[in-house]
Amino acid sequence: MKKMSLAAAAVAGLVTALPAAAQFQKPGDAIEYRQSAFTLIASHFGRVAAMAQGKAPFDAKVAAENIAIVSTLAKLPLTAFGPGTDKGHGTEAKAAVWSDAAGFKAAADKYVAAVEKLDAAGKTGDFAQIKAAVGETGGSCKGCHDKFKEK
Ligand code: HEC
Repeated sequence: MKKMSLAAAAVAGLVTALPAAAQFQKPGDAIEYRQSAFTLIASHFGRVAAMAQGKAPFDAKVAAENIAIVSTLAKLPLTAFGPGTDKGHGTEAKAAVWSDAAGFKAAADKYVAAVEKLDAAGKTGDFAQIKAAVGETGGSCKGCHDKFKEK
């Protein structure tokens, strides 16, 4: 429940309105926050990916709704990798997140750009464009996970 209420606050813009440093009282809060945000992103992205892969019927409206949620949430976990958040709370973040901060930022930028394209594609309602953007976005998730997340 705690995870959901944090996420709900994020969606409402309450969390994003605060300066990044003020968001988390304890490192563990940041870890749980980013895990919760990624869980929600994966859930909504997964619904669109299922359509793109032909595992669920394509519905432009449902795709657009889910893409809009992904787009709103996309940057939230990226704000929660501050110093001291490398251990505990079952984190799967690798030390490389901090030791290769430039590489992590590059992976994050690629993902943000891909989600922006996905957002634009969602607004067109065009299956081919959504499918292509889902592929690029999914690749950006994997690209970061391969280097920066424990399997
Ligand atoms: C810039 C790097 C990066 C990008 C891009 C990224 N992730 Fe992650 N993701 C991580 C890291 C690091 C963790 C581990 C977080 C932790 O456990 O503290 C993670 C964790 C997760 C988790 C597990 C959450 C949990 O409950 O512990 C899911 C699910 C996930 N990511 C999905 C996605 C999806 C889907 C995308 C693309 C739409 C994505 N991620 C993009 C770095 C990234």
